Amino acid sequence: MARIPLIAGNWKLNKTATEAYKLVAEMIPGLRMVKGVEKLVCPPFTALMAVSRLIKDTDIRLGAQDMYWEDKGAFTGEISAPMLAEFCQYVILGHSERRAYFGETNETVNRKVNAALAHGLIPLICVGENLEENETGQAAGVVSHQVHEALTGLDIQGASRIVIAYEPVWAIGTGRAATAEAVNTLIRNVIRSTVNGLFGEAVAHSVRILYGGSVNPDNAAQFFRQSEIDGALVGGASLNHRSFIEIVEAAQV
Ligand code: PGA
Repeated sequence: MARIPLIAGNWKLNKTATEAYKLVAEMIPGLRMVKGVEKLVCPPFTALMAVSRLIKDTDIRLGAQDMYWEDKGAFTGEISAPMLAEFCQYVILGHSERRAYFGETNETVNRKVNAALAHGLIPLICVGENLEENETGQAAGVVSHQVHEALTGLDIQGASRIVIAYEPVWAIGTGRAATAEAVNTLIRNVIRSTVNGLFGEAVAHSVRILYGGSVNPDNAAQFFRQSEIDGALVGGASLNHRSFIEIVEAAQV
């Protein structure tokens, strides 16, 4: 069965609840016209409730940008999977900014992936090598290790629900996207093959794998033409309704 393209907007630390409401309201008419593409917005925690009410009768999905692995308890400042599951279908986990600035490790990503699945959330798991790793030929090793560690302990049913985003760190927010061909090759030879080794061919074939890193309306289509790239995780260009809609349109098959 063909994989349905997914375009996810990662808003990062941008937009108050009021601003988020306005931005999504601007997106709705354009996104409504596009069929056959799954659309996902991931605003900050504080905007989730407002946005969830706004998109209630649309096909736009909602995701958070992180969560903690415990359900509840004395963990001041954290948000758990059951809290998110009231509003969200997705949660981004292991984004490189969380790995770089907030101490996220492959082990904590794995705990979060398991917790998300246990509460019916779809984890959108981010992996990707940094510039030095890229330049020293370590991309394949780093990414395969990240995928392997993130998926430890999952059963086939859980593994078939995840989404992976390949985001080379050097391409994020730099305006310097990776080439579509290189991304396609890495996804096929490293990410799908790692998933295949862990869970078999059927899961490897059905899992959606996105590209992320400086995706914009001008370069999006070249990624979506590739056989292994099932959509995009979009940062900067998801903060403007026109550019986000154009990227979603480019994914329409
Ligand atoms: P960017 O961010 O599109 O602004 O490069 C992508 C991401 O970090 O998910």
